[in-house]
Amino acid sequence: MKISGKTALYGVVGYPISHSLSPVFQNRVFEHLGLNAVYVPFEVKPEDLKTALEGLKALGIKGVNVTIPHKEKVLELVDYADEHAKNIGAVNTVKFGERTEGYNTDWVGFLKSLKEILPELKGKKVLVLGAGGSARAVLYALKQEGAQVFLWNRTKEKAKLLSQSFGVDVVESPEEVVPEADLIVNTTSVGLTEDYMLFDYSLIREGQVVFELLYNRQTLLKEWAEKRGAIYSDGLKMLVYQGLESFRLWTGCEPSPKVALQALSEHLKLTL
Ligand code: ATR
Repeated sequence: MKISGKTALYGVVGYPISHSLSPVFQNRVFEHLGLNAVYVPFEVKPEDLKTALEGLKALGIKGVNVTIPHKEKVLELVDYADEHAKNIGAVNTVKFGERTEGYNTDWVGFLKSLKEILPELKGKKVLVLGAGGSARAVLYALKQEGAQVFLWNRTKEKAKLLSQSFGVDVVESPEEVVPEADLIVNTTSVGLTEDYMLFDYSLIREGQVVFELLYNRQTLLKEWAEKRGAIYSDGLKMLVYQGLESFRLWTGCEPSPKVALQALSEHLKLTL
């Protein structure tokens, strides 16, 4: 990569940020398309977020992704937010220009990657585990597609709040829905550091789809889904598709997912 006076700058804003895989694939895609641009991580503390966004704009940075814990706050700081970001209540993509624009591409990333293994969602019974930030984009996407959604969360009040925003049913225990669910989505952080069964995983059926937002982890849910003959996907493709949708919003180019996934697989093999 050659940096010149014309190099455009993009990045990802989060806290912490060093674990982010976005620079790995976004830079590869810029390179592949021959665009003179670089994508870098920006570690920004919550108390500095407003100043950081003003600074990014003043420096002429073209766009950034936004990740934990800033997605909700950025929605309040942009001059314009698209309908999806407003409905989800979070921004993961900022485009700087005359005005600072906020978008949400997480729900697009989720749907695109999910539809590769489950193309039709209308009327499907779905159990969503977790009611944190990422659950919001998942619930929004599933409702858009006309799925019948059941939500479970460890903290019941959070599930109730989200059920009101997205018009989904809350269940007391996952086992109430697991046997007849077509799809189970795990949006919780269980499996990231600590791992245990969120429900009796031996109830998972052959042919059921199990989608987990975590990636690069050998989770108990993955192990059981595979053992029971379910169709399993982790969140790596969701990460790529949300990032490439951001890329499209910034540049107008439609990059190849293959190139991005290749960059990630090389990187993950190196760092495993
Ligand atoms: P994200 O933005 O990745 O969704 P988050 O907003 O911190 O992260 O949400 C984390 C989710 O994982 C929540 O649904 C949380 O449940 P609580 O609302 O009860 O905290 C869930 N979670 C985290 N640790 C958990 C655990 N040990 N058991 C069950 N759920 C857990």
